[in-house]
Amino acid sequence: MMASIREAVRVVSKAVIAKKILLTDLDQAIGDGDHGINMARGFESVLKKIDLLEENTDAALILKTVGMGLISSVGGAAGPLYGTAFLRASAVCKNKSEIDLATAQAMLDAAIKGIQDRGKAQKGEKTMLDALIPASEAFSAGTKNKKNILQCLNDAVKAAQKGVEYTKTIIATKGRASYLAERSIGHEDPGAVSSAIMLEALYNYLK
Ligand SMILES: Nc1ncnc2c1ncn2[C@@H]1O[C@H](COP(=O)(O)OP(=O)(O)OP(=O)(O)O)[C@@H](O)[C@H]1O
Ligand SMILES: [Mg+2]
Repeated sequence: MMASIREAVRVVSKAVIAKKILLTDLDQAIGDGDHGINMARGFESVLKKIDLLEENTDAALILKTVGMGLISSVGGAAGPLYGTAFLRASAVCKNKSEIDLATAQAMLDAAIKGIQDRGKAQKGEKTMLDALIPASEAFSAGTKNKKNILQCLNDAVKAAQKGVEYTKTIIATKGRASYLAERSIGHEDPGAVSSAIMLEALYNYLK
């Protein structure tokens, strides 16, 4: 799996960049309309940075490069949050020769913890966490039911998409969307959507 991490990052980056307008439109409705612009800028920078790495670069350094790239190139809230997530995932797979099921779960959980350490949000506040936490829970349930990594990831993608739907029903209490209070209801959270896009792109690549 190691050799394909860089390609997985490319696929995920391109998937996010392709949804620039959708993500910006969603953020226009409840925020300041820059989520797509921020994410596209971040992942364009990531694509350039990972191209400069040597051919045999390990997963940890590739993911660290993604995290640093997002933190240094994105001004909004989501860039540093996602950047921290990738840095934490990188730390988990350091010196691992293979990303097995348990490592993948630990990476996902560490990424979520990083987002929470930095952004202080919980589930149910209409953020990216409302896609990512259910995704992690579904992944974990899959591992307990002896599913393989691809099946677990497929469950995680579906849970993230359900999480996106759920964000329509709740009030934002973090970020600019919180200024809208009840008026944030009926809209998907842009960060939850970008999280679901990333997980889906990863699944489609691995499948
Ligand atoms: N404290 C937080 N914890 C987790 N996710 C957050 C937090 N604050 C914002 N987000 C996520 O970031 C997304 C907005 O990212 P964007 O790139 O538009 O940055 P921004 O405009 O600076 O954000 P915001 O207006 O939410 O502060 C939201 O849709 C939400 O999912
Ligand atoms: Mg915004």
